[in-house]
Amino acid sequence: MTDLLLATERGIARAAGMLRAGALVAFGTETVYGLGANATNERAVAGIFTAKQRPQFNPLICHYPNAFAVFEHVIADARAEKLAQAFWPGALTLVLPRRPNCPVAQLASAGLPTLAVRVPAHPIAQEFLQACAVPVAAPSANPSGTISPTTAQHVMAGLSGRIAAVLDCGACDVGLESTVLDLSTEQATLLRPGGVTREQIEAVIGPIALASAEDATAPRSPGMLLSHYAPKLPMRLNATSATPDEALLAFGPPCAGAETIFQLSQTENLTEAAANLFIGLHELDARGPALSLTRIAVMPVPDQDLGRAINDRLSRAAAPRELSQ
Ligand code: TXA
Ligand code: MG
Repeated sequence: MTDLLLATERGIARAAGMLRAGALVAFGTETVYGLGANATNERAVAGIFTAKQRPQFNPLICHYPNAFAVFEHVIADARAEKLAQAFWPGALTLVLPRRPNCPVAQLASAGLPTLAVRVPAHPIAQEFLQACAVPVAAPSANPSGTISPTTAQHVMAGLSGRIAAVLDCGACDVGLESTVLDLSTEQATLLRPGGVTREQIEAVIGPIALASAEDATAPRSPGMLLSHYAPKLPMRLNATSATPDEALLAFGPPCAGAETIFQLSQTENLTEAAANLFIGLHELDARGPALSLTRIAVMPVPDQDLGRAINDRLSRAAAPRELSQ
């Protein structure tokens, strides 16, 4: 059962309480409805991918009530400060380096050292985010492969029974997703056109680059450029045994031979495995030099439900580096 909550003081408090506790709550912004999860809870973030039946772990946008809260979690430079001043709250998402102590789930960044952040302008979204008092990771609140929802009824039609609640924030004004701008490199790059135009951005920070669809790292959707996290150690997939110089990324009871093991899920729970995926890869990679490890061996993960997204990421991480970076 999915609750449809009215945007009263009580409804907002209820929605925020559910989200803080780890449940999925959809809410309206000025662009489209987002499917929100407590961004500091890896399991809750993994649940987003289950609910949307998204076969890939794309990094997600984290929503905050104001720029001050944003810049506690990511590192702002002068460009970010100027753009925040000009367009927040509003339909602009900035990709910035995570702070070392950033509490946001690795899964929300898909293992990358960057985080996409935005401050929505919708007054109810603002109240909701204040009440949540945690960053809210939220992709558009629609099943994978369907169009983005702009009313609570659209969300119900697509996700009813799969999420805890929808906070009815009325119809969205913009109806088009936010603009995504990558500021994690010296050259600012437009990753996705959206509510705030390129010209508006250039008027504030000068010329920006456009993500090239020709690039080997370009994902399926046009106008989006995605890099993928890959560990430094080479990876070997579908391992049914391991050697002592290999780190083992285990799924279920570990196979024989490994001494260094990170367990994705002892009980073979795919949501738990998804929540642990990037944590495990980072951790094994970090232990590599001290233990003279030569490789990460990965046990097979069933190619169903969230397992498809896990396998998608593992195969990208295992791909030749010039293609995967
Ligand atoms: O208007 C919007 O942006 C809506 C509302 C709910 O805020 N959200 C939304 O989220 O459209 P989603 O997940 O559908 O799109 C997020 C976009 C994707 O293109 C993703 O690849 C990009 O942002 N993105 C997120 N984090 C990133 C990162 N660390 N590096 C590069 N791109 C990133
Ligand atoms: Mg979307």
